Amino acid sequence: MKDINWTTLGFHYTETDYIVRSAFHGEWRDGRLVGTWEKPYVTRDKTIPLHVSATCLQYGQEAFEGLKAFRGADGRIRIFRWEENAKRMQRSAEALKMAAPPTELFREAIRMALKNNMEYLPPYGTGATLYFRPLLIGTTARLGVGPGRDYELIIIPSPIGPYYEGKFHCTTFIVNRRVDRAAPLGTGAYKVGGNYAASFRATEEAHMEGYDCLFLDSKTHRYIDECSAANFIGIKTDAEGGTEYITPRSSAILPSITNHSLMVLARDKGYKVTCRKIRLEELDEMSEAAACGTACVVSPIDRVIDPGKGRMYVISREPGPVLTDLYNSLQDIQYGRAEDRYSWCEVIEE
Ligand SMILES: Cc1ncc(COP(=O)(O)O)c(C=O)c1O
Repeated sequence: MKDINWTTLGFHYTETDYIVRSAFHGEWRDGRLVGTWEKPYVTRDKTIPLHVSATCLQYGQEAFEGLKAFRGADGRIRIFRWEENAKRMQRSAEALKMAAPPTELFREAIRMALKNNMEYLPPYGTGATLYFRPLLIGTTARLGVGPGRDYELIIIPSPIGPYYEGKFHCTTFIVNRRVDRAAPLGTGAYKVGGNYAASFRATEEAHMEGYDCLFLDSKTHRYIDECSAANFIGIKTDAEGGTEYITPRSSAILPSITNHSLMVLARDKGYKVTCRKIRLEELDEMSEAAACGTACVVSPIDRVIDPGKGRMYVISREPGPVLTDLYNSLQDIQYGRAEDRYSWCEVIEE
């Protein structure tokens, strides 16, 4: 085991010994890309020779993913819902006319990245995990505008620290109306680099003021879209006094695997789960709200500031009971402390 202070790592890149690479070479035939993926291999070299005219550099032909391996309470290693990440990367690849890594190749590459970097898997009890960043890039040299025929899948592992150093706490969001992260029928629903570059101006501005950035739908600026790089969840009490879990329906947000998992758990707990457009003003009716994603799992929101309208929505000063319970239930599955009823984790034998 590496001598790393696991609890203070944060969400920063810590280089591990190996990365995994696999290249695809193909050709376009009748509008279809036909070719083969080479067997993935491990390498210590974290740099890649890349032509200056590669389509990832020229036209942003790039997609990525993010998933975690956990050392469980029982000492076993679990990778959480990797198959969903594989499927999402395939959808992102299709959206940008890239070669889509087959599910089995994706799985093999992740397993290789784990097995060759075991010393970087944080111990149980630290809250740290081994994060994998699968990256897909277009490597064909071309200047004419269009997709390439060569691609590379690279798995970059990095141990990451607990999102909450110390106590589970709330964050504050600020509404942004100056920058749209993605167009309604653009690439917002795919995990492609361009969306993130397009959002930096807004997220950095929000950070400068000490907040996270809440994106509204880009067509009307009336509905909640995304929380920086995470989905939004709200908790309400419905007309019959029951608990309602609501999350935005939008063509421009990333379908979060964490959000999907929390929705399943919320239904199990007897909550009503609703996926629909959410007006910003509905924050007034919410007893709890959070951002959710692989990195933060559930990140409760205490306030949302809307400087454009001169308003502040106060939601809950402390993390509320419903979201705290959902957070714990999901983490219990990820760390092997509760039954994995939906087979979300793949246990990796050492
Ligand atoms: C824009 C955006 N939305 C939502 C999410 C959350 O998705 P997931 O739960 O699959 O990590 C992420 C992180 O991957 C993201 O980048």
